[in-house]
Amino acid sequence: SAAVKGGYDTFMDKEIHEQPTAVADTLLGRVDERGELRLDEMRIDPSVLRSVDKIIVIACGTAAYAGHVAKYAIEHWCRVPVEVELAHEFRYRDPVVSEKTLTVAVSQSGETMDTIQAVRHAREQGSKVLAIVNTYGSTIAREADAVLYTHAGPEVAVASTKAFLAQITACYLLGLYLAQLRGTKWIDEVADYLDTLAQMPASIQRILDEQAPAVKALGEELSSHGSFLFLGRHVGFPVALEGALKLKELAYVHAEGFAAGELKHGPIALVEDGLPVFVIVPTPRRPMLHGKVISNIQEIRARGARTIVIAEEGDSAVEPFADHIIRVPATPTLMMPLLTVVPLQIFAAALATAKGLDVDQPRNLAKSVTVE
Ligand code: G6P
Repeated sequence: SAAVKGGYDTFMDKEIHEQPTAVADTLLGRVDERGELRLDEMRIDPSVLRSVDKIIVIACGTAAYAGHVAKYAIEHWCRVPVEVELAHEFRYRDPVVSEKTLTVAVSQSGETMDTIQAVRHAREQGSKVLAIVNTYGSTIAREADAVLYTHAGPEVAVASTKAFLAQITACYLLGLYLAQLRGTKWIDEVADYLDTLAQMPASIQRILDEQAPAVKALGEELSSHGSFLFLGRHVGFPVALEGALKLKELAYVHAEGFAAGELKHGPIALVEDGLPVFVIVPTPRRPMLHGKVISNIQEIRARGARTIVIAEEGDSAVEPFADHIIRVPATPTLMMPLLTVVPLQIFAAALATAKGLDVDQPRNLAKSVTVE
């Protein structure tokens, strides 16, 4: 009924709008009065965390894309190599895991069987396992050495939205915690990042307030298209993958995400007249990164693509090559995924709704896959 959906038509819509709260609640209580990061629940010996020489993130689906985003931040902040692997691939390929590996299992439900099995395998190899899960007392939470809960609240729609943002937030807290502990970032640098994270809920809210109507209209307008591409670079790459996944899950249309730099190595052959291509553009304050993505937009536009560009407010370089521009508030590169994914969620839900589909319960999918 409408009441349990908080006045929204679907749980998905409700959960998309709960994202500012999901991020804020995941930060809540983890920063003390002095602005310092406190993760009391990190019940893994600090000496173990200091000697970790590799982090492996294991997860499935959307949670794995959160891990993929986290890799960029954790490696940058902590100078520790981070591997991100689908739990079911990790489990059966004889991965290199030792007492010096920190395994991070990311899961909304904490009940995904592939991820549970991967957690067990990692622990058998002597690795400490940190769980980043949303569901209290779930199997992964119980079996892990420590749990850093995401506080997204219950997620009902099968396709994940607010849990994804909360997972990125929690992974970032982990990265900053390790950077502080291992001395690769100063306390005041960590405090700056925490400050920026704390501003994200308001920025997400602005996207919901200011961009959602146009994004929804675009979803309706493009609802008869059978194929979409999503391009991103750096942290925009996993966001592109997530944008494509949302469209597959909700609207049953063919959609693929690519690293923008990979375009010329193959995917550009797919571009034909009228093909809608989303491009996630990095901030112009990173000119090298930004310039390369602008060239990519030019290349696909020249081949007939209909370009839908997600760019920072004030980034005028995208204007000559964009058929549609979706604006996000300016933020440091590593924080951008918390913003740029939001229009992609709204777009996929609107397109699916325009096709008359059940966005909360897509065909063939389960909220939590409890078989291997
Ligand atoms: C299923 C859901 C996805 C989810 C994935 C991982 O496939 O349909 O939305 O991302 O499982 O679930 P988890 O609970 O482990 O995050």
